[in-house]
Amino acid sequence: MATHPRLVSFLEEQHRSALRLLDALMATTERSIKTRRQRLEELESELYHHMLLEEEIVYPALEAAVDSKHGQRIYRAARGEHEVTKALLKELEALAPASVEFTRKVRVLKDSVEHHITEEEATLFPMVRQVFAQAELEALTRVLIRRHKELEAHRAWSEDALVMAFSAPE
Ligand SMILES: [Fe+2]
Ligand SMILES: [Fe+2]
Repeated sequence: MATHPRLVSFLEEQHRSALRLLDALMATTERSIKTRRQRLEELESELYHHMLLEEEIVYPALEAAVDSKHGQRIYRAARGEHEVTKALLKELEALAPASVEFTRKVRVLKDSVEHHITEEEATLFPMVRQVFAQAELEALTRVLIRRHKELEAHRAWSEDALVMAFSAPE
């Protein structure tokens, strides 16, 4: 196992953050329309940002490094689950925040994102730790953080993940 798991801990911190935002959205009611809209926006921003980092940097790096049937199954599932998440977010946007349908859809989104996160942490992230040498992992982490900062410059975002990323020793 590589001794530099910073890339994985960074992504896992983003997962925790997304789950916190999902819980915050779940905690809203049909009466708190403004809060619901705001929390949905925060969640969307978090999820799109995270999925973009994975789709642009992490998944392609893994796909290039591991071309096994097992690997391909995992990548296909992960990308498919991102598409499901994006579709659910679009459906949520189209629903009235005061509706019961909105409440139900948030539950579906939560189950779906939780499933994806569990899968990713159980299958895909262990591969990252296994297949990359320390130097490769460090290079990949630098690319990821650079892109993250670029994206970050365009929006407000959770501080936890940032503090973690930049305080970890090189
Ligand atoms: Fe993902
Ligand atoms: Fe992820």
